[in-house]
Amino acid sequence: MRLCMVDVWSVVSVLVPLVGLAVAGRGAESSSAADSGAKSAFQLTPLPYGQNALEPYMSARTMNFHYGKHHQAYVDNLNKLVAGTPWAGQPLEKVVVESAGMADKVAVFNNAAQVWNHTFFWQSMKAGGGGKPTGRLLELIEKSFGSFEEFKKAFVDAAVAQFGSGWVWLVKEADVLKIVKTSNADTPVAHGQTPLMTCDVWEHAYYLDYQNRRKDFVHAFLDHMVNWGFAASQLK
Ligand code: FE2
Repeated sequence: MRLCMVDVWSVVSVLVPLVGLAVAGRGAESSSAADSGAKSAFQLTPLPYGQNALEPYMSARTMNFHYGKHHQAYVDNLNKLVAGTPWAGQPLEKVVVESAGMADKVAVFNNAAQVWNHTFFWQSMKAGGGGKPTGRLLELIEKSFGSFEEFKKAFVDAAVAQFGSGWVWLVKEADVLKIVKTSNADTPVAHGQTPLMTCDVWEHAYYLDYQNRRKDFVHAFLDHMVNWGFAASQLK
């Protein structure tokens, strides 16, 4: 079920706008799964842009490894882990929420959450992104953090402070926005929070382009890549 990235990206970037997470991981049935009578397999959601779209801030080489190898591996691992279980064919978010905290299902959670997190991460960026949000999202940021500049500083500080692999998120709880960091595969989805956007701070997200300079990567994310329109669309 591996997608041909070059073909998919060239077509999808034109034909398919941002793909909602509601369909993340719930693609068409694989022939092998269909043959065995199993329910549809989780799939690698197409990127909403070409693999070189975020250059020079995120190289095509990084995208090739990050999306084509790391993200794909989480999808493949998840399909192996849930094959023949009640989670096969279920919505991805349901698998994430139900497996969270289950001591004997750590591998399922880790892979399901990483599939979800990465799909959300790709949508959290766009070519020509960055800048400043507008409207209700900006109002909520200013209300929650004091100012947009204070939000940016807090987001970068959280990203730098995350020890080891993980994620930094802008989330909404009630009418307040918060910055949260999660370790490894952990995700706000498992904690009842509404994520608006995220930045992947695993080393595989930035090491080819920034080496150990995570702070520079997060600045580039905020100044040139973050998709505020997507973040605003996640407000409920
Ligand atoms: Fe990643």
